Amino acid sequence: MTEPTERIDVPMPDGLVLRRATPETLRASLSPLHAAFAEAWSDQEWIDRSEVYATARVVAAWEGDEPVATAGVETFTLTVPGGEIAAAGLTLVGVKPSHRRRGILRAIMRQQLDEYLVRGEAVSILWASEAAIYQRFGYGLATLASTFEIERTQVAFARPGGTVGRMRMVDAAEALRLFPAIYERIRDVVPGSLTRDENTWRLGVLFDASYFAANEGPKFLAVHETDGTPDGYAVYRIKAGWDQRGPRSEVTVREVVGGTPAVEIDVWRWLLDLDLVTKISGFRLPTPPPLLLALAEPRRLGVTVGDGLWLRILDPVAALEARRYAAPGVLVIRMTDDFCPWNAGTWRIEVGDAGPDAARAGACRPARVTRLAAGAGATGGGADATSPGADARAEVDLELDVADLGAAYLGGVRFADLAAAARVREVRPGAVALADAMFLPDRTPACSTMF
Ligand SMILES: CC(C)(COP(=O)(O)OP(=O)(O)OC[C@H]1O[C@@H](n2cnc3c(N)ncnc32)[C@H](O)[C@@H]1OP(=O)(O)O)[C@@H](O)C(=O)NCCC(=O)NCCS
Repeated sequence: MTEPTERIDVPMPDGLVLRRATPETLRASLSPLHAAFAEAWSDQEWIDRSEVYATARVVAAWEGDEPVATAGVETFTLTVPGGEIAAAGLTLVGVKPSHRRRGILRAIMRQQLDEYLVRGEAVSILWASEAAIYQRFGYGLATLASTFEIERTQVAFARPGGTVGRMRMVDAAEALRLFPAIYERIRDVVPGSLTRDENTWRLGVLFDASYFAANEGPKFLAVHETDGTPDGYAVYRIKAGWDQRGPRSEVTVREVVGGTPAVEIDVWRWLLDLDLVTKISGFRLPTPPPLLLALAEPRRLGVTVGDGLWLRILDPVAALEARRYAAPGVLVIRMTDDFCPWNAGTWRIEVGDAGPDAARAGACRPARVTRLAAGAGATGGGADATSPGADARAEVDLELDVADLGAAYLGGVRFADLAAAARVREVRPGAVALADAMFLPDRTPACSTMF
């Protein structure tokens, strides 16, 4: 049993008690995931994974001696246009099927989001199993992710390109020495990227978990070197296959990183031309994936676009002031936020000149964010609860929900597309175009770190 000191004093339905996991109760605390996701860990898998879970501030709802629901959170540094911000990465969410739809997740979300804010995590991020669950808690679709699958015989590049370096197979120990520095170059410039600690590298990116190997074959690691200097890498699996027509192996690409675009394409050229392979698939790539624009027949990739990282803004001032903007302007937004009502109200985002960087292009301008009025401010013209000045009401440019600001925050989804989806409402003509000009990132946002 857990010690009483681990009890978190928050309201829970049905007399449940929320407790922080301790090293002794960690495995039991996470046990609701078995039934929720229909998966079980062998003792060996638990040993493999437990170091990762140990750092994920896990909580569990207990009914007497039985844990019935769980959630965890990892703190990341999230790259935003022109900067970075602490982000609470919600993960390991599961409620036992016997206890679903009683408001347990809702109670845990209340405790989690309140705690993130107190810890100074101005945004929360997650990968969703089913997005509808999290949209109701204010998460917006912040990055898109592409998958593809192509027959090796269909691969042809639009422009002939020479290779710029060489690939070399490495083991996990050497990869752990070489890959992080290469990844850091990309993390620095691609919004949506996350910091990776040693555990993430060792036990996540590089580790060859038996449960994945059973489906997709063993994991391979290869570094790209230009004149002997490591500047790119690939993480992939090969499922070997043979039939009466010969070899039919399949490659699943887990990650490709290139310090420069030319290096990245070099790594892709190598992966798309491995011997004995008939099919290559890629997973959770930026949208569009670079290959779409590099191949002679892009349709042969069969790209499927889906949701990537979901993002929830908890502190609009801290979040919006952490990033940089591509164009000057003043934008007044009226925002709803049912789950975190302290965010609801009218906000002014003012982006000025870039100062000494005035001649620079790109997302380099800081913003000053102020609240003009608090309150629910229902979209469609309702008045703010705290009697805003007439000016505040009159000058609203856009009406949106906090989930829409979360979607637009990294620049991965345009305000124009959110307006076309009837999510953002343009009050002042031209405001959507201005918002898109201001929020434009230098690089397409993407997240390659699953958690
Ligand atoms: C998804 C899950 C965590 C929800 O937990 P829960 O305790 O049943 O959720 P709650 O009773 O607190 O419901 C919270 C709200 O989300 C809604 N909701 C819950 N699950 C949903 C789903 N799968 N799709 C859409 N809405 C969902 C509920 O209707 C409720 O809405 P309301 O508050 O407006 O009435 C739980 O069903 C589960 O563990 N599922 C399998 C594992 C999983 O998908 N985990 C998510 C990992 S990313």
